[in-house]
Amino acid sequence: MSGPSGAAIPKEQAVAIRRAKPADAEVCGRICFEAFGRIAAQHNFPPDFPSPEFPIRILSTMFSHGGFFCVVAEQDGRIVGSNGLDERTPIAGVGPITIDPAAQNRGAGRQLMQAVMERATERNFAGVRLVQAVYHSRSLSLYAKLGLVVREPLACMQGPAIRKTPRGYAVRTAQAEDLAACNELCRRVHGHDRGGELSDAIQQGTAVVAESDGRVRACASSIAFFGHAVGETNQDLQALIGAAREFHGPAILVPTRNAGLFRWCLDNGLRVVQPMTLMTVGLYNEPAGAYLPSILF
Ligand SMILES: CC(C)(COP(=O)(O)OP(=O)(O)OC[C@H]1O[C@@H](n2cnc3c(N)ncnc32)[C@H](O)[C@@H]1OP(=O)(O)O)[C@@H](O)C(=O)NCCC(=O)NCCS
Repeated sequence: MSGPSGAAIPKEQAVAIRRAKPADAEVCGRICFEAFGRIAAQHNFPPDFPSPEFPIRILSTMFSHGGFFCVVAEQDGRIVGSNGLDERTPIAGVGPITIDPAAQNRGAGRQLMQAVMERATERNFAGVRLVQAVYHSRSLSLYAKLGLVVREPLACMQGPAIRKTPRGYAVRTAQAEDLAACNELCRRVHGHDRGGELSDAIQQGTAVVAESDGRVRACASSIAFFGHAVGETNQDLQALIGAAREFHGPAILVPTRNAGLFRWCLDNGLRVVQPMTLMTVGLYNEPAGAYLPSILF
């Protein structure tokens, strides 16, 4: 068997886990591209990433950011996979986890998952969450064995910009001064904030807020695969989704039990790319409002 490098990966070698370094992003990004692409093709779904450059860029950021705990698995001195833990909020988010297709199903994924779960326990996170591709029976089984519970069915949705703003709403780029109001809104809906993540997004210029009657009603780190959004009501969130010029990355993640929001997305031209699920362990409150999770949670 051979990995993305084309070199043979021996079966018997023990797997060693270590912290990821920025220089590991290139090889891990290629494995990520290959692993997601391979499993998607096997199930006749489109690939998550158009080229290895996208996951390489994401992992470069994660591996050099102090708010992430990232690990690689090595076999015989060669990297065979990686995983990450987003530690910027009171809930830790897992992913992306990928193993070289030539080294899968031999325990490396379990070790990478255990490494981040142990870290979350040591650091006293209130909970751990991730988003799982429904068609992948191996990841579903692995996460369930490690204690994660299927919490929310999601539709990964893509389509043209909707270009509709409900009457009385204004949507604008979020500023540092909005952070307190956004954190308060997120705590009301989810029981915790996502301030660390939102603060990064405000600095990067991707965060947006929807206001009406002079008050922040919804906010998002970005309306994208790697962004999350929260609003008091469906209409508040629709203001943000309707104003997005495009949905960056593979798609946005819409909780399908929120039938009103899901149907509104369908009625406005978005199409379901693939079903996914939110899985959680530890603190979880049934959301008291509308939200879109990111691909981490
Ligand atoms: C998902 C992934 C990271 C798992 O890593 P891996 O090294 O292949 O998995 P492991 O061998 O460590 O663990 C698989 C576990 O699931 C179990 N399993 C696999 N298929 C199963 C099935 N159909 N039913 C029940 N259990 C199953 C295995 O027995 C094993 O359990 P164990 O550790 O208790 O023995 C890897 O397959 C991968 O990179 N996939 C492509 C990318 C991807 O889907 N990433 C996750 C996104 S949600």
